Amino acid sequence: MGARVYDYAALGEPLEQPFVRRDLISVQDFSPEEIRSLFELTNIIKNRPADFRGALAGKQLVLFFEKASLRTHLTFEAGMASLGGTSFFMDQTRARLHEREPLRDIAHNVERWVDAVVLRTYEHQTIVEMAQHACIPVINALSDLEHPCQAFADFFTLQEKFGDLRQVRMAYFGDGNNVAHSLMLAAASLGSSLTLATPAGYAPNPEITAAALAIAATTGARLELTEDPWAAVSGADAIYTDVWTSMGQEDEAIERAAIFAPYQVNEALKSKAAPHAVFMHCLPAHREQEVTTGVIDSPCSVVFDQAENRMHVQKAILLLLLGSGVRRFPSRSNHA
Ligand code: CP
Ligand code: NVA
Repeated sequence: MGARVYDYAALGEPLEQPFVRRDLISVQDFSPEEIRSLFELTNIIKNRPADFRGALAGKQLVLFFEKASLRTHLTFEAGMASLGGTSFFMDQTRARLHEREPLRDIAHNVERWVDAVVLRTYEHQTIVEMAQHACIPVINALSDLEHPCQAFADFFTLQEKFGDLRQVRMAYFGDGNNVAHSLMLAAASLGSSLTLATPAGYAPNPEITAAALAIAATTGARLELTEDPWAAVSGADAIYTDVWTSMGQEDEAIERAAIFAPYQVNEALKSKAAPHAVFMHCLPAHREQEVTTGVIDSPCSVVFDQAENRMHVQKAILLLLLGSGVRRFPSRSNHA
């Protein structure tokens, strides 16, 4: 029997703009309605994976990664394969993407061969530039500014655990960088409540904060920033942390360990969250640094659910961005 191609256009209200020919560089690239549609499709894909075998047959994906990865690398490759597509992994950990030739030339090459590009980079601008020049969808798989696929998987996980995301209160502890930024934008879009507790000097980027607050004003989400982890944790439904030293910051590890120590998610902090609270982490985790072994390995930990959902959410993203068969063919005049 041939594979069934799911009619995702039938999901909910028609989308204002089709997903096709779109990039996913920031959580802001998807409207709140589109994120909800993404989650509906994710739920269907997760429950009926066989319906989607062959949905991206003939489609090809290239991944350029300047940094290490377990989850993002494998979930994109396994996800693409399970949809019937093909992926190619380009290890860029030894030389940054633009060192051998200009990004625009890479863009104008790969758009002739494959259907989408997934990028993990140091500089966010590398992903922005790739999207400016390539006529195929470009997906952010982590930059210094954002990690949208992670945040979508995390809020999908919370929806599975708690249902209505507008009733969910998350508290985040640690560095106000990439993962925190995408969580903040996703919470704002989905109407959730998020308090970020970060040390002085490590608060989220002011432009991302302003953007998240502007979205929150339209959805009823509540966003707060504090330096006090005890104020943030009180009554939270989900407590989330990330590494204290992100990839590329290894030289600062000792200094950061001292600065971030009061933000460790441990049993004492967890005891102030709601009794039903879940523990979340994007992984990889450093036990006894940002989280104690007792918390991450306890029954409240949903870290492997988050990791599993990376694949289901990314399959939905790939289907939405690539599924129509429509492609922006390059025209020589727009090779700017
Ligand atoms: N959470 C996450 O992106 O994991 P990897 O760095 O292993 O891809
Ligand atoms: N903040 C971390 C996230 C890893 C998934 C980093 O950038 O290394």
